[in-house]
Amino acid sequence: MATHKLLLLPGDGIGTEIMAEVEKIIDFLGSQDSSVTFEVERDLVGGAAYDAHGEAITDAAMAKADAADAVIFGAVGGQKWDDVPYEHRPEAGLLRLRKDLDLFANLRPAICYPALADASSLKRSLVEGLDILIVRELTGGTYFGEPKEIVDLADGEQRGVDTTVYTTREIDRVVRVALDLAKVRTNKLHMAAKWNVMKTGVLWQKVTTATHKAYAPDVELNLILADNCAMQLIRNPRQFDVIVTDNLFGDILSDEAAMMTGSLGMLPSASLGAPDGSTGRRKALYEPVHGSAPDISGQGLANPIAMIASFAMALRYSFGMGQQADAIEQAIAKVLDSGLRTADIMQDGKTKVGTEQMGTAILQELQATLS
Ligand code: NAD
Ligand code: IPM
Ligand code: MN
Repeated sequence: MATHKLLLLPGDGIGTEIMAEVEKIIDFLGSQDSSVTFEVERDLVGGAAYDAHGEAITDAAMAKADAADAVIFGAVGGQKWDDVPYEHRPEAGLLRLRKDLDLFANLRPAICYPALADASSLKRSLVEGLDILIVRELTGGTYFGEPKEIVDLADGEQRGVDTTVYTTREIDRVVRVALDLAKVRTNKLHMAAKWNVMKTGVLWQKVTTATHKAYAPDVELNLILADNCAMQLIRNPRQFDVIVTDNLFGDILSDEAAMMTGSLGMLPSASLGAPDGSTGRRKALYEPVHGSAPDISGQGLANPIAMIASFAMALRYSFGMGQQADAIEQAIAKVLDSGLRTADIMQDGKTKVGTEQMGTAILQELQATLS
């Protein structure tokens, strides 16, 4: 009997709406398979935690996250907290989870479901069959480098400083993850950096080349300048399979890749730590790539697919439940084939539904497959 400990952190805005749809799936899987139990805890994060406790995540919630087998995260942020001190911004809760749990490898798959080939802002001929995986380094670079500050200058001017820092070890470990993933896909890896301008870029180029040679020389490795990569993703996205890149470029390239799938509401992610030497267990957090979508929150309009697909990634990467993960992804594909669409992926002639109807339809499809 396997017991999987989940910590659900819905967060703010549409985070709570999409999490409700995942909870239905958790309940179903727990009731359907007697050999699996999900032990579910919940807590606040982001603006909701700030309102209740004055900080974007409490030590108590961090302790729960540390003890969990997987954290399932909705989204944080919103205008309401625009003026709170920087260190208490809703986003600080997410950044602390990533950093303190050492979740350095962020997997962001962008898959264009067949039914959505015409929903992308790119032509069908470019996105049909698209299946790429961005591996974003998540605990280093510009997000966490010191100093990070706004300095008052003598003449009333201010200077904002962010620092981009990477060590050999930080690059090597995420490149290995990307090489491992490339091996089980099409054996092709792109590494995007700016070694023509940035010192960290020079190190990314050097370490990636060395790690590739020592660890997986059979994988086809392509080094690409990050700006060219952004352009090539729009020009011909299917030339890519796995792309490994730093924290900031990965953030931007993954939002770009999202639009090839039809909507930001389609992109899930897994943030993984290193496997423990003795147990093989790795810390993990699963979240959609999108944010709290203040413009549509509270209206039941959000697309829950990125959130549900993030839970499928949890089943696959944390619980060895690949079959159930596949079943969830197939249920999503079938529901899209049947013509249901949330507003963000709406197309002529299709049936517009809200968050709850979309979640229920996916659950029913899953029930039909697994029962
Ligand atoms: P966003 O991702 O929240 O929204 C961008 C656009 O995409 C909006 O028009 C929104 O309506 C749409 N969208 C996003 N997710 C959707 C979904 N599931 N279904 C339908 N439409 C969807 O980005 P933003 O507006 O730049 O940021 C809003 C807030 O979210 C900010 O505070 C930002 O810091 C935060 N944010 C949080 C996360 C996170 O929690 N992981 C990620 C990105 C942004
Ligand atoms: C993401 C988000 C976050 C990031 C924010 C909310 C901290 O945009 O997960 O892509 O910039 O990493
Ligand atoms: Mn982002």
